[in-house]
Amino acid sequence: LRTDLLAAIDGAADLTALEAVRVAALGKAGQVTALLKTLGGMTAEQRQVAGPAFNGLREELSAALAARKAVLEAAALEARLATERLDMSLPVLPGPRGTVHPISQVMDELAEIFADLGFAVAEGPEIEDDWHNFTALNIPEEHPARAMHDTFYVTGGGPAGANGRAVLRTHTSPVQIRTMMGQAPPIRIIAPGRVYRSDSDATHTPMFHQIEGLVIDRGITLAHLRWTLETFIKAFFEVDDVTLRFRPSYFPFTEPGVEVDVGCSWQGGRLSIGGSESWMEILGSGMVHPKVLRNCGLDPEEWQGFAFGTGVDRLAMLKYGMTDLRAFFDGDLRWLRHYGFGA
Ligand code: PHE
Repeated sequence: LRTDLLAAIDGAADLTALEAVRVAALGKAGQVTALLKTLGGMTAEQRQVAGPAFNGLREELSAALAARKAVLEAAALEARLATERLDMSLPVLPGPRGTVHPISQVMDELAEIFADLGFAVAEGPEIEDDWHNFTALNIPEEHPARAMHDTFYVTGGGPAGANGRAVLRTHTSPVQIRTMMGQAPPIRIIAPGRVYRSDSDATHTPMFHQIEGLVIDRGITLAHLRWTLETFIKAFFEVDDVTLRFRPSYFPFTEPGVEVDVGCSWQGGRLSIGGSESWMEILGSGMVHPKVLRNCGLDPEEWQGFAFGTGVDRLAMLKYGMTDLRAFFDGDLRWLRHYGFGA
């Protein structure tokens, strides 16, 4: 029996045949299993001889089966490798491809426009501390501007500590502070990113996107700000005829502060950039407040600068004609496709 079974194992041509041999020998109704069952009917002396013999046979067969199985499996793999070839020159099958989200695309467009003007991209944390988000920007504790920001406060963790409690940054302006503290002027940066305010309706989402601009150098004036904004708006909206209106305004971190409106006209039932039928407020800006410069260790006698901040989502809506801000964050492919995004 032993010789026959070992021969059958060696002779098994494939894994299926080998499994058949295993069942015939060691399966429930297998020959060796039957032998083992006879042990129960033997005398003690008989069992002392037959027991080790039968069990030894079972172990020898198990080992032989395992060895043969490894050989056959290796052969099967070899055979598959030989037949399954990948033709790297075949053309790719057409399938749906993802596209860049409109917000990301607009941020890329902005980074490109400002790169041409010599601006680098700067970043800061979304979980900010009170000092960078408010105090350093000349918004002290109890300043009414804090109430206007609908701030999300963060408990536990965050960079709080010595710089006050942690907040979700309410604007990208803290990146101004981080940049001025971190590098020597001249500075030309933009800082696009997420900001958070506790607010939600058709034109407000608790998370939205801003882009900040900051220039620090010697002899910087409002004229530099105006030229920069005009150049940016023309490039972004792809219009040559752009009129900007500077309105005096107040931001604690600017002096003077300016709100900027852009001239618009009605085209196909919606207001679009260009012409001068109407004005639309598009951003906040101003000359960097001397106190802010000093907070960052810069001497206002030597260094001046301008800053601006605007909503990326709103810029995207204006450029691509979207009407509901919330739809940006729904991830609805039908909406994306409607506006020419999405696969
Ligand atoms: N941080 C201001 C806001 O969120 C915008 C701003 C930035 C205004 C820079 C002036 C200068 O409303």
